[in-house]
Amino acid sequence: MFIASQDPLSDIPAYCEKQNLTSSLANVSAFLMAHTENVNWLGFYLYDGAKLVLGPFQGKPACTQIELGKGVCGTAALERKTLRIDNVDEFPGHIVCDSISRSELVVPIVQQGQLVGVLDIDSPSLARFNQQDELFYQKVVESLLQHLDFGVRPFGVQI
Ligand code: SME
Repeated sequence: MFIASQDPLSDIPAYCEKQNLTSSLANVSAFLMAHTENVNWLGFYLYDGAKLVLGPFQGKPACTQIELGKGVCGTAALERKTLRIDNVDEFPGHIVCDSISRSELVVPIVQQGQLVGVLDIDSPSLARFNQQDELFYQKVVESLLQHLDFGVRPFGVQI
């Protein structure tokens, strides 16, 4: 199943099944990766109430847990702020998962006032992401929040 229209944002709901967060995020990460040029890692970390845990993604194997406040992901999650990092080597505490990553964009996912995860995108090019990309991925996250229930943890574990 690959849905392709002129406006990738409008395709996001087609990959969202409210009763299945894991499958939905897996398809969304696959769809976004196929749609995005010059990216080596794209996926989700989900907040388990204490730390970020690796969720569905595309790319090389990555660290499975990130503490809040650590790395780009943990900092974006703690501050609940999108972080667009032109050169990850200049970000104090950047966590290296794929050594070819040079720039990174992390959008926090906050549902009903609660942190539920982050969308993380890595590129092998310096300053790959601009403000337009930032807005696009923020809109992706808004769409996910509208169409998915992040309160239901992957693998059926309720919180
Ligand atoms: N670089 C991230 C870690 C996750 S990987 O890039 C997939 C960070 O510093 O939080």
